[in-house]
Amino acid sequence: MSQPKYVGKMEWPVAVQIGKGLEGAITSETEIGYVDGEKGWLVYRGYNIFELAENSTFEETTYLLLYGKLPTQKELDEFKQKLVSYREIPGEVIDTLRKVPKTTHPMAALETGIGMLGCLDPDADKCTMESETEISFKLIAQMATVAGAIGRLRQGKEPVDPDPTLEHTANYLYMTTGKKPDELMEKVMDVAMILHADHGMNNSTFTTMCIHSTLSDMYSAIVGGIGSLKGPLHGGANEQALAVLLKLKDEEDATRYVKDCIANKKKIMGFGHRVYKAYDPRAKVLGKFSQDVTEKKGMGHLYRIAKRIEDEVIAAYGEKGIFPNVDFYSGTVYYAFGIEPAMFTPIFAVSRISGWCARVLEYFRDNRIFRPRAMYVGPRDLTYVPMDKR
Ligand code: CMC
Repeated sequence: MSQPKYVGKMEWPVAVQIGKGLEGAITSETEIGYVDGEKGWLVYRGYNIFELAENSTFEETTYLLLYGKLPTQKELDEFKQKLVSYREIPGEVIDTLRKVPKTTHPMAALETGIGMLGCLDPDADKCTMESETEISFKLIAQMATVAGAIGRLRQGKEPVDPDPTLEHTANYLYMTTGKKPDELMEKVMDVAMILHADHGMNNSTFTTMCIHSTLSDMYSAIVGGIGSLKGPLHGGANEQALAVLLKLKDEEDATRYVKDCIANKKKIMGFGHRVYKAYDPRAKVLGKFSQDVTEKKGMGHLYRIAKRIEDEVIAAYGEKGIFPNVDFYSGTVYYAFGIEPAMFTPIFAVSRISGWCARVLEYFRDNRIFRPRAMYVGPRDLTYVPMDKR
């Protein structure tokens, strides 16, 4: 059978400037949020994060991210009621999670649980604005329930049913620990959830948008986002940062650790950022919480070790724009509240689901498939070599 023959000379691409890791690339227009890396500002829908951390709640901030405005009391009540109505997850999801080995990282288990939720949702593939919006509400509510069940099962305990009388963050903590949080824990953790809810075109947000831009379903997009967030260069850094702190005895040990990292060009987890070249505002809030909460829980040494690392890193790398990021102090706060380190990144996902959904829905309104190109630098003009001649 004859086939078309390649004739003529191939045109090869000319070298172009590449922003490695898509540095400097702008994916789309957005009204949702903004990061000013030079000033160290984070803005959701026009509101500075400090304003929201001081005054808002996770549910209200989620409403703001989704709808673009602060809700009236009636709107907030209805929104919260909707989330509460979606908290329970099908028994099949729990059955699936029971089969996940206890050695599996909770973020991988979360991918499995959310994937199973998608398998069970008859509306998963409708892909209309209405269906994707409703699935977003479900996922914002159910990410917490799935994460809570994972936290329990990995400790050999039974999942705890959601409590409709509790606020979203309190209910999540209750489903994870089996105990209702006290006022301090509920407040601090709710602010942590506000701080993590959205953050510009970060890797996991881009991943969710990228997947959904193919008109794949919302569940697949969110499973992809969880996979991205799991990585230690992204959300997984909170667990890694605490692991380092737990190995250090005191402040002198911390100084030795930083000097060793500098001498051996090792990255220090919880520091540095693609966009921030100033102090991450989220780390400012969490650093203060870390100081207060660790002190109250008799773990003040953890904060002091962390602060010494911060001082040493800023002295060495501050001029290069390397400061603590959101993942440096968060783990000390969670740990002081008795949450096990493997469950730190799931907390991030339980919060970031709001930003993922808001941005997927925003992009979906005027969707175009993401399809960048790569600069080909491989061999050129080769002729096929038959097997016996290789
Ligand atoms: N410790 C020491 N040096 C660092 C660090 C760090 N944590 N981060 C960046 N640098 C140095 C890096 O060695 C490089 O130096 P040089 O120019 O001399 O080669 C320069 O800063 C630029 O680093 P990069 O890795 O090219 O920067 P990036 O924009 O590609 O990566 C990052 C950003 C966040 C992945 C990186 O800073 C990092 O690996 N940090 C540690 C992991 C971490 O804390 N991640 C959480 C990020 S914030 C929350 C989130 O998004 O989840």
